[in-house]
Parts: sequence; C-alpha cells; structure tokens
Amino acid sequence: MRLENKVAVITGAGMGMGREASLVFAAEGARIIACDINEAAMNETVSLIEKAGGEAISVLCDVSKEKDVKNALALGVEKFGKLDILYANAGSLQKKIDRSVIDTTEESWDLIQAINLKGAFFLTKHGIPVLRENGGGSIILIGSISALAGFELAQDSYTCAKGALIALNKSLAVQFGPDNIRSNIIHPGMIDTPLQAPYLNNDDKQSIAGCIPIRRIGVARDIVNAALFFASDESSFCNGSELVVDGGFYVT
Ligand SMILES: NC(=O)c1ccc[n+]([C@@H]2O[C@H](COP(=O)([O-])OP(=O)(O)OC[C@H]3O[C@@H](n4cnc5c(N)ncnc54)[C@H](O)[C@@H]3O)[C@@H](O)[C@H]2O)c1
Repeated sequence: MRLENKVAVITGAGMGMGREASLVFAAEGARIIACDINEAAMNETVSLIEKAGGEAISVLCDVSKEKDVKNALALGVEKFGKLDILYANAGSLQKKIDRSVIDTTEESWDLIQAINLKGAFFLTKHGIPVLRENGGGSIILIGSISALAGFELAQDSYTCAKGALIALNKSLAVQFGPDNIRSNIIHPGMIDTPLQAPYLNNDDKQSIAGCIPIRRIGVARDIVNAALFFASDESSFCNGSELVVDGGFYVT
C-alpha cells in the first residue's frame, strides 16, 4: 500500500499507461480521479478498479479545455476531500498530421500542442493550489525520448510539446518545492500501447526491439512502475528530476 490515503488525478486514464497507472495506483491504496476524453474506456477503467476493491470516479475531460480540467479537479476534490498526486499522462500522437515543420499546418500544430502541452498547463494550474492547501504533493509529467534526440521521421509539434514539459518540470520544481510539492518527468521510450498501435505491426515491433539494448519494446507497466515511485513518499527527495525509461534506446 505505497499510496495509502492518497488521492491521484490521472489524465488519459482510459487506455494505455493511464489505465495501467489507475489500476496500479488504486491497488496501492490511492483513490483515483480518472479523466479521459473517451467515456467508455474511462468507465471501464473505473469498473476494473472497483471490481478489484479500489475506489475511483470517472470524469469526462478533454485536457485541452481549461474548463474541463478545472471541473474534473473540483469534482474529484468534492468526492474525495483532497488531492495528493497530479499525473499529467494524457497525450496524443498523430503522425499523419504532425510531421516536419515544413509539412505541418498551423491548425495541426496547435491541436497537438493543446493536448500534449496545454493539458499539463491546465492540470498544474488548477491542481497546484489544491496540493498547496493539502500541505504538498507530487506532480508527474510524461515527456518522451522524442524530446531528447532528433528523429528523421519528425513529429515536430509533439516533440516540441514534450520538450516544453521538460522546461515546465524544472520551473515547477523550483517554484513549488518550498511548498513540499515535487515535480518530476518520465521519458518513455517505445511502449506498446494503443497510442502506437496504428503505426506498428508485429514486424515493426521486432525490428524496433532489435535496436533497443534490452531487446524488447516496453509495456505500460514499465512506465507506471517509475510513476509509482514518483507518486509515493519513497521519492520525497526527487524534485525536478527526469527519468528515461526506454530499455537503453536513448544511450545507443
Ligand atoms: N506509447 C509510447 O510509445 C509513448 C512514448 C513516449 C511518450 N508517450 C506518452 O505517454 C503518455 C501515455 O501514452 P499512451 O501510450 O498510454 O497513450 P494511449 O493512446 O494508449 O492512451 C492515451 C489516453 O489518453 C486519452 N486522451 C487522448 N487525448 C485526450 C484529451 N484531449 N483529453 C483527455 N484524454 C485524452 C485517450 O483517450 C487514451 O485513453 C502520453 O503522454 C504519450 O505522449 C507514449
């Protein structure tokens, strides 16, 4: 019960890493405010948590809309009375419309920024004051190794949004550390989730695995294990840190 008595808001809780985090955090004793734009997926996450004996509420929320995020936090705090963990997980990869800068429209650029960057802005903007009232908390941002290195197959808006989260992480760590609020960022490598599904067949997966020193693609739990550490008090001296979880791909 590494998260006993804690309340966590998790965005993008309907699928992939967000669902896994919701289930694992709940199993570790946290009560979950599960937010997603996909109502059916999010409700399924909550029902899986409840079946396992955990506690959660689902709130339909598009993280790119400030009023949705504000509302989700308000409903969650009303239900559970407090907040300890802000997990800005929701993200979207749209390789057809987000490409190199020379091939990307302004509309596409803005859409990708709104989900991947503004989502974290709204969550921290409205969540940090609640953490402060509670005497502290943990913020977990999800970056990407795509923000640490250049790639020939560019998704420049996504990459820039994730890069900006690295800067936001440092700024939050310095501003709110004195309030006992820690901010840390995880950089996943290639993880087998619904996000990647449209772009990867089994042959692609095998050839990518061959480029990763650990010789496999990651699974959602690989990232959630790192997030669990940042969410728990075990990481109480981690603030402003970045953790790459990619099987060693980035260092090759
Ligand atoms: N899978 C990877 O290889 C990988 C690699 C690096 C970083 N990431 C990042 O990890 C995070 C989780 O990714 P994943 O692979 O689990 O993705 P996923 O697509 O499997 O799940 C994302 C969830 O977010 C939800 N979502 C999408 N847009 C939303 C919005 N506007 N508002 C609220 N919810 C929204 C989706 O409905 C879905 O439930 C993302 O930030 C992603 O950018 C993923």
